[in-house]
Amino acid sequence: MSPNATNRKVLVTGGAGYIGSHACVALCDAGYQPVIYDNLCNASRHVPARIAEVAGVPVDFVQGDIRDADGLRGVFREFEPCAVIHFAGLKSVGESVREPGRYQDNNVGGTHVLLRSMDEAGVRTLVFSSSATVYGDPDVVPITESAPVRTTNPYGQTKLDIECLLGELYEASPDWGIACLRYFNPVGAHPGGRMGEDPSGIPNNLMPFIAQVAVGRRERLQVFGGDWPTPDGTGVRDYIHVMDLVEGHVAMLRLLERGPGLHHINLGTGRGVSVLELVRAFEAASGRSVPYDIVARRPGDIAECWADPTLARSRLGWRASRDLAEMCADAWRWQHLNPQGYGD
Ligand code: NAD
Ligand code: UFG
Repeated sequence: MSPNATNRKVLVTGGAGYIGSHACVALCDAGYQPVIYDNLCNASRHVPARIAEVAGVPVDFVQGDIRDADGLRGVFREFEPCAVIHFAGLKSVGESVREPGRYQDNNVGGTHVLLRSMDEAGVRTLVFSSSATVYGDPDVVPITESAPVRTTNPYGQTKLDIECLLGELYEASPDWGIACLRYFNPVGAHPGGRMGEDPSGIPNNLMPFIAQVAVGRRERLQVFGGDWPTPDGTGVRDYIHVMDLVEGHVAMLRLLERGPGLHHINLGTGRGVSVLELVRAFEAASGRSVPYDIVARRPGDIAECWADPTLARSRLGWRASRDLAEMCADAWRWQHLNPQGYGD
């Protein structure tokens, strides 16, 4: 089964999470009907209703685990989706170092079960959330898709393992349509201020940390290293607005509607931004100050990482269109209208 004009249902694993929730809105906007499948291990139970409110249409939600074959079988039977977008996974690098087995089991084991369930149900169209982490510490920037892939931590290993699994699957069954979308650094929020990133505990990532300092939930930002070989000494990344990112998924789905294939595509802007540049942009967008201290480098970090987004443009006809000011303005609107996130 591939997506067509009559069947527009798309199973979205991890659809209650940060990126998945925004993807559900973009899918609705594009005329698809997302069916969320999420065990809520890292998402609020309020998210599905919020998605429906923002999208203006009802959205199906099933609480379930991708490792539960019976649960997935029931969902494929009930909703008969034509495609799957697979966001479900654990994503903390530090946690993966402490609990590598749990990451393998959840991310890789879960994907095995999902693929078997898809095969049984005759669904052969899959968009997978990969990551720029598969490039490790890159030899050159900007990074093209042909750059060598390597592991730097157990989380990254799960992304590589799944990409490898999908490659083998496609080789054995070339009637599948599979995309591994390698995200750079997704940030920002839906512009309406009703949906955004709501990390539990202390944020690992830079943008939500800055937002929580600006709103007064945390005192100061720690900048991990001021002595990197970069223009201002702080780490450089390719921040991409989450709405651009999820629109890239819709473009990918449309390409897979046209036929099978295996794709590996970077989703980034092609522009590197330093930690201090992001702090300044956020201060400008929010009108708040973001005090910071420069501290030691974080173990495992790299100096710089940004995408060559050419392939996405030529293959998908998609490019990121929102700039750093818009990323910060939307992240700030979400943060200050919802200082405690979704509130559970
Ligand atoms: P997130 O944690 O907000 O969303 C992941 C969702 O998956 C959560 O809602 C969680 O409850 C769910 N989930 C986890 N394990 C599950 C399981 N076994 N069964 C069912 N649901 C499960 O993370 P996100 O930032 O939205 O990331 C989505 C995907 O994109 C992840 O696969 C992540 O690795 C990948 N990715 C994220 C980033 C980033 O910076 N946010 C960068 C590159 C790749
Ligand atoms: N940083 C700080 N202080 C903080 C948090 C981050 O200075 O409190 C710095 C980091 O040192 C780095 C930059 O901000 O220079 C970005 O750090 P993030 O943690 O936001 O993002 P990373 O690029 O380190 O990692 C993210 C995801 C990974 C993913 C990678 C590539 O967390 O899972 O992007 O997609 F693999």
